[in-house]
Amino acid sequence: MLERLTRMQFAVVSVVGAFAVAGAIAAILVAATIGFGWYNTAADVPHMPMVAWLLHRTMIRSVKAHAQQDAPRQFSSQQVQQGFAEFEEHCVMCHGGPGVARAKWVMGLEPTPPYLVDAARRWSPGELRYIISHGVKMTAMPAWHFSQSQEDLTSLVAFLEALPNISTKQYAAMRAQAQEARRQGEDGPQPVEHP
Ligand code: HEC
Repeated sequence: MLERLTRMQFAVVSVVGAFAVAGAIAAILVAATIGFGWYNTAADVPHMPMVAWLLHRTMIRSVKAHAQQDAPRQFSSQQVQQGFAEFEEHCVMCHGGPGVARAKWVMGLEPTPPYLVDAARRWSPGELRYIISHGVKMTAMPAWHFSQSQEDLTSLVAFLEALPNISTKQYAAMRAQAQEARRQGEDGPQPVEHP
C-alpha cells in the first residue's frame, strides 16, 4: 500500500492523520476538564488568562457584528441628565463613576465590571446601546431592555457619551443636586411602599 502512495499523497495522509490525533487529544482534554471538574468556576478566583482573553475577545467581536452602527450620535443635555439618573439608579454600584467606587460586593463578580469613564472611546453609540440592551452572557451584565424603555436606553448611551468630559467635581455636583431634588420631592424615585 505504502509503495503505491506517491510522496504527495503520503504527505497529505500524514498531515490529516496528525490533525485527527491532535483533535482527539484536545477533545479528551476538554471532556476530562469538564468531567473531573478541573476548571474552577468559583467567582472569587479569576479566569485563567487564556480563558479571560477568549471570552472577552468573543464578546467584543459579537457586539461589533450585532450592533446597529447607524444609531443616533447626537444627544441633548436633557437626555444626558436623564441618563445620569438612570445610571445612578441601576449602574453605578457595579461600574462606579468619576470619584465613585464600585460597591464592595462587586469584588465578588468575575469578570469584575469595568469603570465606564472611557467606554465611549472604545465603543460606538450603537455598540453601547447593544451592550446595555442585551447584556453579556456569563457575566453579571444584565440585558436592560426587559425593564427600561427605549428612551431610557437612549439616555444611558447619551450619558456614557458625555462621561469622558464629566469631571469628578462635576459628578459630585450632579449627585448633590439630585439628592437635593429628591429631598424636596420634586424628582427622582419616590419611596415604594412594600405590602
Ligand atoms: C451586577 C453588575 C452590573 C450592573 C448592575 C451593570 N453592569 Fe454593565 N457590566 C457588568 C459586567 C460584569 C461587565 C463586563 C462584561 C464583559 O467583560 O464582557 C459589564 C459591561 C458593561 C459595558 C461594556 C464595558 C466595556 O468597556 O467593555 C457597558 C457599556 C455597561 N456594562 C453598561 C452598563 C449600564 C449602562 C448599566 C446600567 C443600566 C450596567 N452596565 C449595569 C456588570 C454590571
